[in-house]
Amino acid sequence: MDKLKIGLIYGGASPEHEVSISTAKSIRENIDRDRFDVVDIFIDKDGKLNENLLDNIDVAFLAVHGPNCEDGKLQQYLEDRKIKYTGSGVKASQINMDKILMHDAFKAAGLPVVEYKGFDKNNIDHIKNYVEEIDCPVFIKPNNGGSSIGMTKVDSIDDLEKAIQEAFKFDDKIIVEKAVVKPREIELAVLGNNDLIISEPGEINYQEEFYDYNAKYFNQDTSVLFDTLDENMNKKIKEMTSKAYLGTGCKGYARVDFLIDKNENIFINEINTLPGCTATSMFPKLMAKSGIGYKELISRIINLALE
Ligand SMILES: Nc1ncnc2c1ncn2[C@@H]1O[C@H](COP(=O)(O)OP(=O)(O)O)[C@@H](O)[C@H]1O
Ligand SMILES: [Mg+2]
Repeated sequence: MDKLKIGLIYGGASPEHEVSISTAKSIRENIDRDRFDVVDIFIDKDGKLNENLLDNIDVAFLAVHGPNCEDGKLQQYLEDRKIKYTGSGVKASQINMDKILMHDAFKAAGLPVVEYKGFDKNNIDHIKNYVEEIDCPVFIKPNNGGSSIGMTKVDSIDDLEKAIQEAFKFDDKIIVEKAVVKPREIELAVLGNNDLIISEPGEINYQEEFYDYNAKYFNQDTSVLFDTLDENMNKKIKEMTSKAYLGTGCKGYARVDFLIDKNENIFINEINTLPGCTATSMFPKLMAKSGIGYKELISRIINLALE
């Protein structure tokens, strides 16, 4: 049988450019070479790529993350060229990279979310009022962001202005969210188009004030724990995961993240439609727990794109 030609797309005009390079490296090293040939397709920081390389591939493997890559733009570009690609389509990618739209969609699906509100430069003056209304601590985040970049936990109204400035560096829209105090953070991996494999919930154990860039990528003490939820919570969180994934139209794979407060209230935090996918990232770790190893995972993600 002829090998399938996989266009490994990575890099990108995204703050998560470097994370993407790591994801691509892992995939390149671990992909099943008996089934697949790999063509490297690098997108530079200005968003440029060698379009000729796209001509002869069977599927694009999207090893990218963040704005311009995970938000539907790259997906639309590939659709226009009739190229098959891994992961979610245009619409689900758009919704889930837009924290305001994503929260709106979760709310509409009856999923529990923290209090939140979106702002842009036109209603910037109303942010302070809103924060006074819902009370600190709050999180101020760029709307279209990832890897905890540009976001700040604000404990006192005096620190609000700086946090707003910081978030607006990355996007012209921001989201203000009520903070869950000392949350437990639970993540689940999902694989599938219609019939879903949902992983066991993994609980993130980190040392930082919140699960920030350092905790995610550098701190060696960050770890994942399994079997930390009782049977009832476990069942509830898996149901929410399925509802969120199908409800926002995800395909292929995604990671669904939750926050749990001290009274055991579960809040859905976000869906990552192109989660970090190095051999040691959360998504493969969660899937490995369900018996799907990294190499097998890559093959299945490609198979799902061909379905
Ligand atoms: N509303 C919140 N309450 C408590 N912690 C939060 C909240 N929002 C974000 N965080 C913390 O910040 C981290 C990153 O936020 P998240 O919205 O997941 O952004 P990203 O898309 O960059 O991963 C979370 O994993 C969590 O540690
Ligand atoms: Mg997150």
